[in-house]
Amino acid sequence: MVPGRTLLLGALLALAAPGSGNSEVPTAVNITWTSINFKTLLKWLPEPTNYAYTVEIFGIHTNIRRKCIHTKETVCDVTDIILENVKDTYTAHIVSDMLSNIDDFDEKPYAASPKFTPYKQTLIGKPTIQSSMQNGSKLIVLVQDPFIPSTFPNESLKSIRDIFKDDLEYVLYYWKDKSSGKKNAKTKSNQFEIDVDKEENYCFFVQATVPSRTENRNSLESKVACTSISRNILHEYQIDLFVIIGAAVLVIIIIIIVVSVVIYKCKKEKAETVKEKTPLNDV
Ligand SMILES: *[C@@H]1O[C@H](CO)[C@@H](O)[C@H](O)[C@H]1NC(C)=O
Ligand SMILES: *[C@@H]1O[C@H](CO)[C@@H](O)[C@H](O)[C@H]1NC(C)=O
Ligand SMILES: *[C@@H]1O[C@H](CO)[C@@H](O)[C@H](O)[C@H]1NC(C)=O
Repeated sequence: MVPGRTLLLGALLALAAPGSGNSEVPTAVNITWTSINFKTLLKWLPEPTNYAYTVEIFGIHTNIRRKCIHTKETVCDVTDIILENVKDTYTAHIVSDMLSNIDDFDEKPYAASPKFTPYKQTLIGKPTIQSSMQNGSKLIVLVQDPFIPSTFPNESLKSIRDIFKDDLEYVLYYWKDKSSGKKNAKTKSNQFEIDVDKEENYCFFVQATVPSRTENRNSLESKVACTSISRNILHEYQIDLFVIIGAAVLVIIIIIIVVSVVIYKCKKEKAETVKEKTPLNDV
């Protein structure tokens, strides 16, 4: 189209719709990436009024892709796009859309996000202690990798291990139960085998780490687990049983008392009503 005509048409349309000039469309602000275990959301402000947003995302090695087209929301899930190449560095443009024909030949206003490299920046979620046991003087701890929102062709979930491979390590922090001196051990696999004192119980937690990273290197800590070699489990179980039976007996006694009182009161009231009514009937 001839530039002069475009301008004229634009001016005419602007005149035809006074007060809705599309140069006034707000662009997004405070654009952030929220990403954990590669589940990745883009968020921004403000809530749209008489317009909508479209997300355009591209990487150094990834052609431009559109997502959340004409959305009225201020969040967009781009997990599927970034998972295609987690090592790429992405930028997103949050385009403000007027939802009319006017912007067909207009440069659409947009705001650019900060850059984001999933491999280096996605937060690593809490690992789980899958199992642990203390066999004599060996403490063996097995770690479950956090899962990512992606599956193999056989539909089993992929984990962060499938992405980070040998870059992923685990650290085990362990200490003698009821003491505070913590020791730690590292592994590039998912299993720890630690020499411990066979007379003692140990408590421990694990943390995933990607040492090659400069930021967000460590995951959150797993829950604490403890071994229980010297505890007499049967003895504790019996005490528990005793307490439970005692409580149950107490509850039954209370119920019997309450029911008795209620029945007694009801009978008494009935008797009194009968007493009151009898003379009247006699008259
Ligand atoms: C954007 O973030 C800044 C600083 O975090 C804050 O002061 C401002 O109010 C935010 N903008 C909106 C529209 O909320
Ligand atoms: C404990 O260790 C002993 C000797 O190392 C081994 O024979 C036994 O199978 C282990 N027990 C368990 C439950 O793994
Ligand atoms: C699914 O496939 C992956 C990779 O081929 C494999 O590691 C995993 O064990 C498989 N899961 C099941 C349940 O077969």
